[in-house]
Amino acid sequence: MQLPAPLSDCSPAQLQALLAELQRDYQAHCDANLALDLTRGKPSTEQLDLSDALDGLLAGDYRAADGSDCRNYGGLHGLAELRAVGAELLATTPAQTIAGGSSSLTLMYFTLLFANLFGLAGAPAWQSRGGVKIICPVPGYDRHFAICERLGIEMVTVAMNSDGPDMDAVEQLLASDPSIVGMWNVPKHSNPTGITYSDAVVKRIAKLGQLAQPGFLVLWDNAYAVHDIAASSDPLTAIAPLAEAAGTQVAQFASTSKITHAGAGVSFMAGSQALIDSVVEQLGIAMIGPDKVNQLRHVALLKEGGLAKIMDGHRALLAPRFAAVEQALAAHFSGSELLRWTRPNGGYFVSVDTLAGLASRVVALAAAAGVKLTPAGATFPYHRDPQDSNIRLAPSFPSLADVEKTMQVFCCCVQLASVEQQLANG
Ligand SMILES: Cc1ncc(COP(=O)(O)O)c(C=O)c1O
Repeated sequence: MQLPAPLSDCSPAQLQALLAELQRDYQAHCDANLALDLTRGKPSTEQLDLSDALDGLLAGDYRAADGSDCRNYGGLHGLAELRAVGAELLATTPAQTIAGGSSSLTLMYFTLLFANLFGLAGAPAWQSRGGVKIICPVPGYDRHFAICERLGIEMVTVAMNSDGPDMDAVEQLLASDPSIVGMWNVPKHSNPTGITYSDAVVKRIAKLGQLAQPGFLVLWDNAYAVHDIAASSDPLTAIAPLAEAAGTQVAQFASTSKITHAGAGVSFMAGSQALIDSVVEQLGIAMIGPDKVNQLRHVALLKEGGLAKIMDGHRALLAPRFAAVEQALAAHFSGSELLRWTRPNGGYFVSVDTLAGLASRVVALAAAAGVKLTPAGATFPYHRDPQDSNIRLAPSFPSLADVEKTMQVFCCCVQLASVEQQLANG
């Protein structure tokens, strides 16, 4: 149901009647003993099934294109033929791309760790400069924030607009604060808002090195580079050539976690030759080489249109789930001041904003009704959403029927919390 808009026009008696009705609906959801989960952006089992051909694909032939035996040690940069796949994902050259193990997050963590402890691409170690800071567009990805928190790097937030981060704020920060050493980005189908950076924003980011101190790193996590839900893809300007021309160090990342098997995929990092060389030098202390057998299987699966076919399969499974979220939100909140939400063309998330002060209450109400939502605050550094309004919805993993059920509970919780607040505010 839709509530009258705006709620502030309702009399106390009308609000009490709405409250009673919503409490009845809410109790009915609680009585249904639900156990639903809309928290993490995991692929569903059907999505994982799309890449089951990986199993046995090599049929005993472990030779890479250069004739080397992938079962053996070595090859720190990853297989050349897979680096070419990564370079295409990240719109750069194979020579400036490395291929690693199953997690791009590991490469991100190592990159920040190396930059902090040792310095990368000839720059001094961040830790030698005393306290340093990283710019985080918000809402953003909780695991990026966790890396900074673990390394003792202070996070400074800027707003994420519909075309990317607020670049005026970013440039002002860099011009005024020499302790800033980096900036996180998820430039395509961002986590959680789903937006893709505009050409103008990418161009401004590519020049940030000119405003920053040596050692500044643009962290470009292109986790959703080919993850379109809509039929047409949001275009993303290639940052590598622009950054190279402007002298800005950009560390790009991607993986096949949301393409093949999330727990058994391959990851990529790309950057200037100096950056890649210094990261590989450090990686060489930590390992002798990545899992090249898995890399070879991935080349065999993804080559000759294999990647596009798998992504079509993901789209067919994800699009109805995102449509179910949109339908429920539109049915309950279109034209209402109670909730704003994003309509992503790809990625894994829908980002919603309740009225200020209500996200924690909505998450708690949903939990008591058997629906797990990502904790309020998770999309902000230090778990502190100053407005307590943002909630990340991740509809990929549950079945379509469960997404539909979950959204009914979620919408009821938002309405209930909003009416409670209106009554409390008088
Ligand atoms: C923006 C972003 N980066 C990275 C990851 C994780 O990547 P990987 O599995 O390659 O470590 C995720 C997973 O949700 C993500 O949303």
